[in-house]
Amino acid sequence: MKTFLKIAIGLILLVAILAAAGYAWASSATAQAFEQTVEVHDVDFPVPYPEAAPEAGPTADGEFATDGETGGTGNDVRAAAIQRGEHLVHARYGCADCHGENLGGGVMMDAMPMGRFLGPNLTGGAGSVVTGYGTADWDRAVRHGVAPDGRRLMMPAADFQRMSDQELSDIVAHIGSLPPVDNEVTAVALGPIGKMLVARGIWQFSADRIGDHDSPHVARPPTATASVEFGRHLAATCVGCHKQDYTGGDIGGDPNWAPAANLTAAGSLSQWTLEEFVRLMREGVRPDGSEVLEPMTFVMPAAQRMTDLELEAMYLFLRSLPARETAAS
Ligand code: HEC
Ligand code: HEC
Repeated sequence: MKTFLKIAIGLILLVAILAAAGYAWASSATAQAFEQTVEVHDVDFPVPYPEAAPEAGPTADGEFATDGETGGTGNDVRAAAIQRGEHLVHARYGCADCHGENLGGGVMMDAMPMGRFLGPNLTGGAGSVVTGYGTADWDRAVRHGVAPDGRRLMMPAADFQRMSDQELSDIVAHIGSLPPVDNEVTAVALGPIGKMLVARGIWQFSADRIGDHDSPHVARPPTATASVEFGRHLAATCVGCHKQDYTGGDIGGDPNWAPAANLTAAGSLSQWTLEEFVRLMREGVRPDGSEVLEPMTFVMPAAQRMTDLELEAMYLFLRSLPARETAAS
């Protein structure tokens, strides 16, 4: 009995020591990971973007204003850019889902012991993180996942890497037009599980997934039509979870998350109609009536504000993908 107790206590101590050592290792490895910096090219683009663009924000009937509906004066150009930017921020790129409806701060994920990932204040008020941002800084943060000082962000910027200069310019114009919100947002904080995932390289930084930080970006988005080409541009925001080849699989974030679905012809989407796809995107319900799981549900608020045309183009693109099996992770 005594021996048994001694062994039991010894084992408990051993486990405690190992856990403490593991946590200490993960903490220091994570701290180091956050200090590493990444070099990103310096780009410049005008804000607002010049001349009437081939597409503008959605009009009252949910479709896009066409070329020529914006006049030629400087004010018109700015107003059109701000209007397009509003749609990009709330629908196409979902910035507001994490940075808040008024972009004054929001929640990406608040899940200790994973971590607390709050979207910082992007407006000009107290607590703003974009004071002093130039166009190169916007490019670095949004399309490369790198802060102005070179550190890697936790924001899923891999989803924005194919954003065009015009779209980023429109977003900057829109954000610049917003009323300043005073809101100091707590910086990203990782819990023990989050630290373990970062330390072991399971949670990958977007900057590392993107890899290429030198190639020029595309100037303008494709024309907004029900086409595979436009759909490919829109579906570039899905790769952070569904992978570059849309075969899905393990996402590498919260261990409770469902693996991302295979969106190629090898997955069940290949059997769905456009209406069924739209229902899943906006309401989170599959054709068989089952509800879609986290984190796909995070995409719904933005999808609800996408136009019918955008969803149709995305459907056409996804349906054009040849069958590919999900890689084992
Ligand atoms: C899924 C959530 C999410 C989405 C969507 C998102 N962000 Fe972020 N963003 C964050 C979080 C969290 C941070 C905090 C810093 C970090 O990532 O480590 C951040 C940081 C930033 C920063 C500040 C970087 C710095 O200097 O510290 C900028 C600028 C930014 N986001 C802009 C945008 C824009 C523009 C969009 C839309 C195109 C967007 N974000 C979409 C979560 C998100
Ligand atoms: C934050 C991660 C994430 C992002 C971003 C994301 N998805 Fe998903 N998606 C998932 C996960 C996880 C599932 C599986 C959910 C489940 O099993 O219920 C899923 C499921 C789906 C399904 C259901 C397919 C099926 O066979 O059941 C479709 C369709 C889909 N996603 C489309 C998209 C599109 C289009 C985008 C980009 C606009 C996108 N997703 C962005 C994580 C994501």
